[in-house]
Amino acid sequence: MKPIQVGLLGIGTVGSGTYKVLTRNQAEIRRRAGRGIEITMVADLDTARARAIVGEGVQVVADGRAVIANPDIDIVIELIGGYGIAKALVMEAIAAGKHVVTANKALLAVHGTEIFAAARDKGVMVGFEAAVAGGIPIIKALREGLTANRIEWIAGIINGTTNFILSEMRDKGLDFGAALKDAQALGYAEADPTFDIEGIDAAHKATIMSAIAFGTPVQFDKAHVEGITQLQAVDIRYAEQLGYRIKLLGITKRRDDVAGIELRVHPTLVPAKRLIANVEGAMNAVVVQGDAVGTTLYYGKGAGSEPTASAVVADLVDITRLHTADPDHRVPHLAFQPGAVAATPILPIAQVITSFYLRLQVADQTGVLARITTILAEHDISIDAVIQRESAEGEKQTDLIILTHDTVEGRMRDALALMQALPTVLAPIVNIRKEELS
Ligand SMILES: NC(=O)c1ccc[n+]([C@@H]2O[C@H](COP(=O)([O-])OP(=O)(O)OC[C@H]3O[C@@H](n4cnc5c(N)ncnc54)[C@H](OP(=O)(O)O)[C@@H]3O)[C@@H](O)[C@H]2O)c1
Repeated sequence: MKPIQVGLLGIGTVGSGTYKVLTRNQAEIRRRAGRGIEITMVADLDTARARAIVGEGVQVVADGRAVIANPDIDIVIELIGGYGIAKALVMEAIAAGKHVVTANKALLAVHGTEIFAAARDKGVMVGFEAAVAGGIPIIKALREGLTANRIEWIAGIINGTTNFILSEMRDKGLDFGAALKDAQALGYAEADPTFDIEGIDAAHKATIMSAIAFGTPVQFDKAHVEGITQLQAVDIRYAEQLGYRIKLLGITKRRDDVAGIELRVHPTLVPAKRLIANVEGAMNAVVVQGDAVGTTLYYGKGAGSEPTASAVVADLVDITRLHTADPDHRVPHLAFQPGAVAATPILPIAQVITSFYLRLQVADQTGVLARITTILAEHDISIDAVIQRESAEGEKQTDLIILTHDTVEGRMRDALALMQALPTVLAPIVNIRKEELS
């Protein structure tokens, strides 16, 4: 059988890795897919650079639409990024009856429902393994390996840039700004790091995992998103003294008590003894809790040219296997059921259940701690641990660090407002969520 023909839109970091991996491992990939897979056409704005990567045997064009118009191409890979031209080209490829593979988490998290509905109508597949956690096959794990399970929750370190910054802050005692500069100098953070440090990139990925795990439409706009820009080195130190590490986690959780789903990204205290707390540098890891399997952990490179290409090519192989199969036995490559579970809402953050780390700078007077614990008790928030430390701000002040047990977030917000209003509380109260992940 002649090889399946693939068109590549955008041959930058991931696109060039995809071309290299596919070419280098050609024979093995053919054996596994049951058919050869060849990139025969590439579109990129920089045609000279594209030509330099692929050599003479591949057709190179500047306009992605020429790839979509080519009737010999069965699969289109979109590796341009963003919501603009990438969305238009993906929709046009689907409309032309092509299968699509993309690493574009931003596009899927925001427009996924529309894209998947169009793919379903056309009977084509959309592969997006590379969109979440780069080279880690987490989409496959959720969709295939864990398919017997009722997923209870997922928690992941799914942004390498922020994990690198947090590791630097902890290892070297650096503040956020200094650690960000290091990350930029070493190429772990972009010149404009907003998407990473504000938690948006992690929220895109958490949104996609949530939709697959719970069968709901993608709803990025309902995610609660907090980044790491406000984190201070002092809180990383105190967390350490209490046996915790601070990680930026993407969390999604089924909540049967209120028939909803939690979807949130924020800095989180995690017990230092958990494996995920020890994931350092730019590495990614995802913990999935299923009712049958229990807890499973997936670890690896979440970005980079060839790690991400590894996931792109896995999707190409999947599609090739299914495409080659008897058309009556093709399995649609979609795990969402648009509309089917749409009634299960993403919960507002006030309804989330979590525990907290609090740091209060208070006047060094008797009765202050009693007043604060009373406010917490009045809101039904129980205390797990309290430590009191000399404040760096001077003798007349004390740092009060409190760990709470689980509570409804709204209750904690009310308690925080009352505590903040006390004249003996001298600075904004630092509050960071905490998850035991057990
Ligand atoms: N890099 C990673 O490690 C990684 C990991 C996971 C997922 N992803 C996702 O993968 C996608 C690609 O990322 P990347 O890092 O490979 O980006 P990149 O290096 O910037 O590559 C994008 C390529 O697309 C080209 N391009 C831009 N507009 C185009 C158009 N209209 N038609 C054809 N080509 C066009 C660019 O050309 P010019 O350079 O000439 O503009 C560039 O060569 C993004 O969605 C990203 O979020 C990346």
